[in-house]
Amino acid sequence: MAKVNENYLKLPGSYLFSTIGKKVSAYSAEHPDKKIIRLGIGDVTQPLAPAITEALHNAVDEMGKAESFRGYAPDLGYEFLRSAIAENDYRVRGCDISADEIFVSDGAKCDCSNIQEIFSLDNKIAVCDPVYPVYVDSNVMAGRTGVYDPGAGTWSNVIYMPCTADNSFVPELPRETPDLIYLCFPNNPTGATVTKPQLQQWVDYANKTGAVILYDAAYEAYISEEDVPHSIYECEGAKTCAIEMRSFSKNAGFTGVRLGFTVVPKELKCGGVALHSLWARRHGTKYNGAPYIVQRAGEAVYSEAGRAQLREQVAYYMNNARYIYDGLKEAGFTVSGGVNAPYIWLKTPGKMSSWEFFDYLLEKGNVVGTPGSGFGPSGEGYFRLTAFGSYENTVEAVGRIKTIQV
Ligand code: MLT
Repeated sequence: MAKVNENYLKLPGSYLFSTIGKKVSAYSAEHPDKKIIRLGIGDVTQPLAPAITEALHNAVDEMGKAESFRGYAPDLGYEFLRSAIAENDYRVRGCDISADEIFVSDGAKCDCSNIQEIFSLDNKIAVCDPVYPVYVDSNVMAGRTGVYDPGAGTWSNVIYMPCTADNSFVPELPRETPDLIYLCFPNNPTGATVTKPQLQQWVDYANKTGAVILYDAAYEAYISEEDVPHSIYECEGAKTCAIEMRSFSKNAGFTGVRLGFTVVPKELKCGGVALHSLWARRHGTKYNGAPYIVQRAGEAVYSEAGRAQLREQVAYYMNNARYIYDGLKEAGFTVSGGVNAPYIWLKTPGKMSSWEFFDYLLEKGNVVGTPGSGFGPSGEGYFRLTAFGSYENTVEAVGRIKTIQV
């Protein structure tokens, strides 16, 4: 008789953004007259840049002609895209990453959740708290996290690294040594980031302890300050301890197009085994590649026109981030983030819990955000707003938040 993977039964509730989606749909069905402004999930709203749509159109035309039609993509991704990534995301920043260390995929979310498969179930993971829930949930599904404590909102076999106002939302090296360390900078959800010397400490720690860092750099395009690393490979020794995951969703508006990549350096070994060969084996077996037309669109991200257009798009969202940050600060909220990331992290007013503030804001202001506690226990009492809305909606949302009385 077939049996289910019981690890799935341990997962509390549904995926954070599904829960929010359901709550908002229910509210909207009851109040069809209300204009709801969604600053919850970090989903982009600007249309694809002209350089991207042109590349998509051209690739579609190629696929419609016998002489340029393409079937299955190469396992690791097309060479034209991997070379563009290696050159523009890494070599120009002095990182020695080659095209054959890059694995193209249909997005960083899948890579972030799938990467744990190449590691033993005995490995203990360390995560920031609050954290992007995908890292923890994917390890729950695999059976690596132990027992859930509903009161504390924690798993018995996970090392939590609190990121609070006291440490400026930057994790400290854990007391207990982990095997796998998930880091995300610029951070989702807090918008905090680290300097290069701070990240170097993590790389040195991982090399010393034999841990592997799983580094999510999905928001690197939003870095505005000097001395904030865009890639972990800017740190010395990172190629022997770190895997980096990147997305085209936030820098190029591909949330609905789907494209991302993971870098697994050839020198990176675990117990003498090259992780590159394990990830290649997994990719080859379980994945048939991102579509050709999407990979051509990804290539256009690195063209001169693409770069210029996407710089403008990022600046548009960062203008929203500034507007939210300044507006809420002026209104007396305690706010952080928003400088190197499209997320603003605010303290809920009047000692409200994160979900209480979510409900309050939805009802009184018709604005949707994300409750901080959905990202982990240290997120309780916080709330995340995204800068990915339109400017007009952002202005309206901030105006509404300012006028509701708590
Ligand atoms: C978020 O809102 O945290 C992200 O958009 C979710 C994601 O990228 O999967």
